[in-house]
Amino acid sequence: MGYEIQKILTAILVVFVVVFGIGKISDTIFQTEENVVAYKVEGQVKSASTDVESSVDIKALLALGTVDHGEATFKKCKACHSIKQGGKHNIGPALYNVMTRNSGEISDYKYSKSLIAYNKKWTFEELNGFLLKPATWIKGNKMGFAGLKDEKDRASVILYLNQMSDNPLPLP
Ligand code: HEC
Repeated sequence: MGYEIQKILTAILVVFVVVFGIGKISDTIFQTEENVVAYKVEGQVKSASTDVESSVDIKALLALGTVDHGEATFKKCKACHSIKQGGKHNIGPALYNVMTRNSGEISDYKYSKSLIAYNKKWTFEELNGFLLKPATWIKGNKMGFAGLKDEKDRASVILYLNQMSDNPLPLP
């Protein structure tokens, strides 16, 4: 009788050890799988959101530019735009303080209807899109300029525009 009970207790102990052991092992497996899954999801979310934002990493782009190179590149804009404080409108509106004002906001400059209707704040991202290809970023605007394809030129002009302001924005 005592022997039988011992056998049963041993069996129970063995079962306990086995179950507990498997539990431990599967915990470890599931934990690693969870990590892998979490990592994968994060990766997917990242690539999805960059697709949506037309794949612009504005911080990385701006890092390519300098204010000095922007001042030099701005020669291309000077035919139509003044940039100094108190500068007059020309073919295009004066651009001092353009950063953070709304598109088409200056009251004594005659904008196209489409630029006024666009009515968004000029930010680093907006200027980047607009200056890359003005005609497609805001359809129907009257800025007769093909755009700045070169990333360093574009980043630099944006940094320069930001600098030519009463309150330059902190860089993103
Ligand atoms: C051939 C003339 C011309 C050139 C060159 C030109 N622009 Fe313009 N720009 C314009 C005109 C005209 C407008 C107004 C567009 C409208 O009302 O549709 C404008 C509008 C803008 C605006 C919007 C301003 C606001 O108040 O909303 C920005 C920003 C701008 N230009 C930046 C630049 C920069 C930077 C360059 C040089 C890389 C440049 N432009 C080159 C003619 C020009």
